[in-house]
Amino acid sequence: MKLNLGERLITNNPLRAFIQRRIEGPMLKRMAGFESYPLCLEIGCGRGVGAEIIVEQFGAQRVIATDVDSEQIERAKKNLSPEFKDKIEFRVADAMALDEPDNKFDAVFSFGVIHHMEDWRKAVKEVSRVLKNGGELFFEEPLREFTSIFTKGSMLSIIATHPAGGMFSFDEFKDELKNNNVDIISIKHFGNIAIFGVGRKRR
Ligand SMILES: C[S@@+](CC[C@H](N)C(=O)[O-])C[C@H]1O[C@@H](n2cnc3c(N)ncnc32)[C@H](O)[C@@H]1O
Repeated sequence: MKLNLGERLITNNPLRAFIQRRIEGPMLKRMAGFESYPLCLEIGCGRGVGAEIIVEQFGAQRVIATDVDSEQIERAKKNLSPEFKDKIEFRVADAMALDEPDNKFDAVFSFGVIHHMEDWRKAVKEVSRVLKNGGELFFEEPLREFTSIFTKGSMLSIIATHPAGGMFSFDEFKDELKNNNVDIISIKHFGNIAIFGVGRKRR
């Protein structure tokens, strides 16, 4: 689901970029199973900072960075620093129906995206399908306790709106990954509010 105005302002700003680059990227990198990931997919890339982090911090040679919102993709293309132009390609794509072959990517990244899906289970299925066996899924996601206060129609939905189909607990998320051949290899919980982690697709 596309972002509302409030969440666009929260997401498309230098503070978010700073946090993503300096805190979230390094935290996920410390949980990684491998030194580098040559071919990567990012879902819900937003303004495009994540794709640069994937090159800089995860050693990607090539990143396909996707978002369902063409405005975000245009913004990401404009923001892209010239030194990344031969490594990063931005494309409009729905993470619940990826136009990519099975077993293609060394890693897939979701920087706060799966909880924005109308049907998060479809995105988990797609992400697992396009990962190589042994490939890794990097994720940071808020959990139902947090996302449920931003449901459509609530007072807080002015700030952000989260679809009912994107709400999950940690156990539901872990079990769905498992059902799709992805086992969590590293996880950090921030109370019941959010999780940061890495899953690896079984060989
Ligand atoms: C909270 S923003 C995160 C953006 C960026 N990853 C970041 O960390 O700053 C969620 C992004 O997911 C995108 N999104 C929502 N539903 C999507 C879908 N079905 N497929 C792909 N992207 C989607 C939104 O357009 C938005 O850019």
